[in-house]
Parts: sequence; structure tokens; C-alpha cells
Amino acid sequence: MEWMNSNMQEIEAKNISNREQKEKIAKEVALKAKDGDVIGFGSGSTSYLAAKEIAKRMEEEGINITAIPTSFEIKALCQNLKIPTASILEVRPDWAFDGADEVGKNDNILIKGRGAAMFKEKLNMVNAGITYILVDDSKFVDKLNEKMPIPIEVYPEAVSSVKEALLDLGAKECLLRKAEKKDGPVFTENNNVILDTKFVEIYETLEEDIKSITGVIESGLFIDYPIEVLH
Ligand code: A5P
Repeated sequence: MEWMNSNMQEIEAKNISNREQKEKIAKEVALKAKDGDVIGFGSGSTSYLAAKEIAKRMEEEGINITAIPTSFEIKALCQNLKIPTASILEVRPDWAFDGADEVGKNDNILIKGRGAAMFKEKLNMVNAGITYILVDDSKFVDKLNEKMPIPIEVYPEAVSSVKEALLDLGAKECLLRKAEKKDGPVFTENNNVILDTKFVEIYETLEEDIKSITGVIESGLFIDYPIEVLH
């Protein structure tokens, strides 16, 4: 028997910026779905619109899709849209789509993780042959990390030592992300905390250097992954 789930209705009620452009990109990526595909579903408003377009094609054309969601929110949305979900433990994505917070104009560099879902987002991205990055024009920046911090997911008990190591690495700002309607920090869906960082410079091996710090789970810096940016 199904739940009459009012939480799902709240997920539907979103205030989406640049909606027209995001809807156009969402339609474009949904057309790439083929019957039987296992698709990594990203998080954020553009991914939300893409999920809705894929659900529409499933209903109208009878194609079968399995989603590997990257957050609770997208998983709940898939349930609402009747898109079957699986975990990356069970299946490998044929391809994936996701949003981004900042896109470098010249190099293949993204900043992600505004929604704190970058760990699973990166997990999908490294395992999918290709990830389509769905962005409106506001996401392209001349200088990355000036406005948007690079979020770093950290094992909670390691937060002090990781912060020290990040400062040594060249972070000029390193703030524990605070919850809005709860005292204390944000806890991710993996029960970790987030340090929002700004660096003096983003250099080629920065992502690897961050990842090599003991206690770091993952960062929102994505350098040189197999992506295609749709905008
Ligand atoms: C989630 O953690 C982020 O990486 C999102 O992909 C990003 O915030 C994009 O969101 P919008 O599509 O709402 O801009």
C-alpha cells in the first residue's frame, strides 16, 4: 500500500531561478535517455527539472529508466515521479547528469556542493562514462572560488586537524557550515560536516591535495572529469 506523502508535495514546490533556461536544458538532456538506461541523477533545481522531463518520457513513450540518486531530495522526487532507483552498490550508471555552482570559462573545472551532496555526485561522475553538466549562464565565472566557496566534507572528529591542514595548503577562508533551523553545524547525508573554503589560488593538483588530508571525505572541486557542459 502506498503512503499518502505530503513531504513529496513540498519537494515539488520550488522557487527556481532562471527557470526558462533550465527547463530548456532539462528537455535537451532528457532526450538522451534510452530504454534500459541506468542514469546518475544529480542534485539541485536543474537536476530536479531534468528528472521531471525524464519521468514524462517514461510515461509518454514507455521507456524504462533506473536512477542512481545523489541526495535524499532527488531520491524522494524519483519516488514521487515513479522512477525506480538503485544504489551504485548494485548497478553502474551508463551516464549521468548534474548541475554545478560555478563553471570555469576556459578549463574543465567545476565547483559543486552548495547542497552538500558532492560526495555522491562525484561518485556517480567517476563511474559514469559521461556526465552532462546542466547550467544556466549565471554559472560561468572568470575567476572561480571568488563568490562560491569550495565545500569540503569532513569526518566530524577530524574537523580541527583538517582545518589546520587546509590553511597550510593555502585556504584563506575555512568556515564550518552552520545549519539554519538547527543549532550547530550542517550534517551531510553521510553524517559528516562541511568546511566552506576559499583558496588564494586554484592550482592543478589542489583537488588531490585536499583529498589527501586524513579526515577529508570529499571536496566540491571537480577538475578534469569526463563531462559535457550543456547550457
Ligand atoms: C548540489 O550539491 C550541487 O552540486 C548542485 O549540483 C548545484 O548546487 C546546482 O544547483 P542548481 O541546479 O539549483 O543551480
